Amino acid sequence: MTPQFNERVTALQVPGTRQFANKVSTYSNGINLTLGQSGFDAPDFIRQAMTDAIDRGQLRYTHNKGLIELRTAITDYTAARFNVNYNPETEVLVTNGGSEAIDSIFRTILNAGDEVIIPAPAYAGYEPIIHLLGARTVFVDTTETNFVPTAERIAAAMTPQTKAILFNYPTNPTGTTLSTEAIQELVQLLKDKDIFIITDEIYSENVYEGQHHSFIEYAEVRDQLFYINGLSKSHAITGARIGYVLAPEAAIDEVTKVHLYNTICAATPSQYGALAALTHPDSRQLISDMNHAYIERRDYLYDRLRQMGLPVELPTGAFYILPNISAYNTDSFQFATDLLEAEQVAVVPGAAFTAYGEGYIRLSFASTMEEIVEGCNRLERFLHVYQK
Ligand SMILES: Cc1ncc(COP(=O)(O)O)c(C=O)c1O
Repeated sequence: MTPQFNERVTALQVPGTRQFANKVSTYSNGINLTLGQSGFDAPDFIRQAMTDAIDRGQLRYTHNKGLIELRTAITDYTAARFNVNYNPETEVLVTNGGSEAIDSIFRTILNAGDEVIIPAPAYAGYEPIIHLLGARTVFVDTTETNFVPTAERIAAAMTPQTKAILFNYPTNPTGTTLSTEAIQELVQLLKDKDIFIITDEIYSENVYEGQHHSFIEYAEVRDQLFYINGLSKSHAITGARIGYVLAPEAAIDEVTKVHLYNTICAATPSQYGALAALTHPDSRQLISDMNHAYIERRDYLYDRLRQMGLPVELPTGAFYILPNISAYNTDSFQFATDLLEAEQVAVVPGAAFTAYGEGYIRLSFASTMEEIVEGCNRLERFLHVYQK
């Protein structure tokens, strides 16, 4: 007799995002345009806050919901940004990255057979968790509406099984942001419905045109909203693993149960790093400097891709761009494989972001300018000889 693994786990696929990055690292001249994190080093003041915490011996568990100083910094920061008040004692949970927030929320709300609507192309981290719970994803195609989900299409996807709808703006992998009008339209549709709204706004500091707008600004949906954010992307500290959830007290109480049985609390030194990230006077400038660099890289990449004849939207947030390669006589996985083998440039096939990502490739402008320039030169050379 061989012991059997959980069948939902064995059915999961390893993410398509990692394999090209792994392979390109084996080439001495490889160019990696797959980065899902800032290429900048973590700021000194965050590193210092973490090492200070360790030096002070702050290596015990914290409150399950996180340090109260950090929860207060999170609610202050959110109040200043969006003019909303959440109670640091009862309406915030600090998690091990945005990832754990996603996992714990889904485990808190989903029963087998429930459906979660997600505009797509979408981040590859949602569907596996939903499937592990025996629930289903219902993807709503945004490729014909400039990657913006319309209320009409969302409404058409709703069924009596719809338990939640997940938004991720700015979006990984499209770099799309939502206008106030688009959010208002969705809020009008969803308010008063028995459906949770989960908004993953992990890229909210990486917005390049105008201001970031959030579902959290709308009191009409407060009772059904889980707001996810974190420090991974904004402060270049993906390895610190700090995210957080804001939600009404009853919802936070339930998610906290899942979180405490799973991880007890977020890593203590990292929580001190996050506290510094949210309160240090240099933080704003740091984010703005990184964003300036991303804008310069984005603009260069966008112009080059257009010159190569690839249809592409200008990303207004996150650090990804998603050109359309469907004119070539192949699928996105094969395209990325051929590009890697011919030119040692790694990109992520669009199909890694649901079937609606097929026909696209994702390039990251969190890579350095030198890598982007060289990556574009090689991609251009590749396209000259690649079969249409
Ligand atoms: C849309 C989205 N949400 C969540 C995450 C996970 O973030 P964290 O590193 O904070 O777990 C990522 C990471 O790539 C992401 O792209």
